[in-house]
Amino acid sequence: MTEIGVLGVGALAEYLIRGAQGLPYRFLVSPRGAARAAALGANYGVKIAASNQAVVDQTDMVLVCLPAAEGLEILRGLLFRPGQSVLSTMAGTQIAPLRAACAPADGFCAMMPGFANAFRAGPSLLFPPDPAWQCFLSHLGPVHEFQSQEPFETAAVFGAMSGASMFLMRHLADWYIAHGLPPKTAQHLVAQTFRGNAEVLLQAAEPLDEIVRGVTTPGGITENLVSTLMAHNALSAWDAAMDKVLVRMAPDRAQSLSLK
Ligand SMILES: NC(=O)c1ccc[n+]([C@@H]2O[C@H](COP(=O)([O-])OP(=O)(O)OC[C@H]3O[C@@H](n4cnc5c(N)ncnc54)[C@H](OP(=O)(O)O)[C@@H]3O)[C@@H](O)[C@H]2O)c1
Repeated sequence: MTEIGVLGVGALAEYLIRGAQGLPYRFLVSPRGAARAAALGANYGVKIAASNQAVVDQTDMVLVCLPAAEGLEILRGLLFRPGQSVLSTMAGTQIAPLRAACAPADGFCAMMPGFANAFRAGPSLLFPPDPAWQCFLSHLGPVHEFQSQEPFETAAVFGAMSGASMFLMRHLADWYIAHGLPPKTAQHLVAQTFRGNAEVLLQAAEPLDEIVRGVTTPGGITENLVSTLMAHNALSAWDAAMDKVLVRMAPDRAQSLSLK
């Protein structure tokens, strides 16, 4: 049984702990967010430490799920020791400041969708590669390991894309509901459509452009819907929106994207 210390017991910590039920991991969590920590204790048998420092003192692997804006400052106030391993899930964490904040422990960065990991279906990113964290994350979905910062930063935009895809699916479900479908039917129809099409992308040998061509009957209803969306910049708007998230998480990339 490997013990993982968790700093920051919010939504993400809960999803990851839920997903890890039945696996050879147990968790020692920080005390703040007392109601959620208590519920995690009651439902999943996690232990609650007396303080953040007690989490660090009692575990070798520390999972950081603190608010992104304050997380590094909170880590700077804690005493780590050599041989410890710290994984930040905080959006926009840069590896050098993380490692400085948790020295002499080793530091790693991750990104994941969150809720999907509770169902062991969420991909995770890990930078740089690490066997122990790779092993933990691989129980919660496929893991993509990165050797360098820039592609990791680019890929990490998927954390926002993932959340936004929930808004998109809810928006589409709401359209069906507004037009008379029962909410469950609408929710399942949208989810099954996206899941089916995701399977196509995962399993079909054809290149993506060919897949798109194949599902678009010339003059048909898909073409009709997509041309209306494009007339409203509904697809190209994603480019600017994702650039903005990338720059927020990696300000050094602003110039190359001509964004501030
Ligand atoms: N939610 C997701 O699905 C998701 C996915 C990928 C990455 N992330 C990343 O995960 C991190 C946490 O996100 P979240 O959605 O779980 O946020 P959240 O629900 O707001 O949880 C953050 C938790 O940290 C606690 N906290 C704040 N200051 C603390 C301190 N000094 N010591 C100990 N705990 C402290 C908060 O306690 P209080 O409630 O008492 O303030 C809260 O319980 C973020 O950095 C985010 O970028 C989240």
